[in-house]
Amino acid sequence: MRFSVRAFSVAFLLFLCVQSCKHEPFDPIIVEVLTNDSNLVFGPTPGACDPDTVYFERDVLPLIANVCGSCHKPGGQNDGILLTNYDEIMQYGEIRPGNPGASELYEVITETDLDKRMPPPPASVLAQEDIDMIRKWIEQGAQNNTCNFDTGGATGACNPASVSFANEVSNILSSNGCTGCHSGGSIVLNNYAGVKTVADNGRLLGSIKHEAGYRAMPDGGGKLDSCDIATIEVWINEGANDN
Ligand code: HEC
Ligand code: HEC
Repeated sequence: MRFSVRAFSVAFLLFLCVQSCKHEPFDPIIVEVLTNDSNLVFGPTPGACDPDTVYFERDVLPLIANVCGSCHKPGGQNDGILLTNYDEIMQYGEIRPGNPGASELYEVITETDLDKRMPPPPASVLAQEDIDMIRKWIEQGAQNNTCNFDTGGATGACNPASVSFANEVSNILSSNGCTGCHSGGSIVLNNYAGVKTVADNGRLLGSIKHEAGYRAMPDGGGKLDSCDIATIEVWINEGANDN
C-alpha cells in the first residue's frame, strides 16, 4: 500500500516537474522526494547489473562513505558540506548530470592544488580507477541507481561457517562504507571492541537486516548483499569472537 501511494506521489511530482521545470531537471525538492524513498528507488528486485553501467548504490556510495564519510557526516569536520546519501551528494557535491567537468565533487577529487583537493592531505588522492568511476557515473547521468549485485542470492552458494572477524566481518564493514561513517562517535565499527558492542546488543543485525526499531544501514544506501548479512549473522551466533 505504502508503495503505491509513494509511487503515485513520485509520478505526480515528476509530472509537475516536466510541466514546470524543464530547464531545471534537478529541482532539489524533486530530488529529495525521489531519493529519500529508499524502498521505491532501490526497489524490491533491481535488475541485473550491466557491466558498462556505474551504479550509485553499488559503486559510488561505498567509496564516498569510506573516503569522505569520516568528515562529511553530521558533526564531522566539513564546513556544513554533507555527503552521506544521494540527495546530499547531488546537492553539496554540486553534481551536474552528464557534465563531470562542471561538477564540484569531480573537480575537488581531481584538483591539483593540494589546498583544495579532497580528500585533503595527508590522505592521498583517490585511485585513478575510482576517479574514472565517478566520472563515468556523472557522464551516465548521475542517477540514484542500483542493480542486483546480491551474489548470495544469485548463486545460492552462500554457506558461511567458522566466520573470522579479521578476515571476513571487518572486510564486509569496510568494503560497504560502514567504517567510513563509524570510525568514531557512538557506534564504532573500525575495531573489534566497537563491533562486538553492537553485535551483542542486537543493533548490528537489526540495522543491516532493516528490522523495525533500528535505523536501516548502510545509511542512505540499499541493503547489504544477503551473503554478507548471513556471514555477519553466523559470526554473531558463533559468539562474535575476535578471531
Ligand atoms: C579530513 C576531512 C575531509 C575528508 C576526508 C574529505 N573532506 Fe571534503 N571538505 C573538508 C572540509 C573541512 C571542507 C570545507 C573547507 C574546504 O573547502 O577545504 C571540505 C569541502 C568539500 C567540498 C566543497 C568544496 C568547495 O570548495 O566548496 C566538497 C565538494 C568536498 N569536500 C568533497 C569531498 C569528497 C568527495 C571527499 C572524498 C573523496 C572529501 N571531501 C573528503 C574535509 C574533508
Ligand atoms: C553515510 C554514513 C553511514 C554509513 C555508510 C553507515 N552508517 Fe550506520 N549510522 C550512521 C548514523 C548517522 C547513525 C545514527 C547513530 C550515530 O550517529 O552514530 C548510524 C547508526 C548505526 C547503528 C545503530 C542503529 C540503531 O538503530 O541503533 C548501527 C548498528 C550502524 N549504524 C551500523 C552500520 C553498518 C553495519 C553500516 C554498513 C553496512 C553502516 N552503519 C553504514 C551513519 C552511517
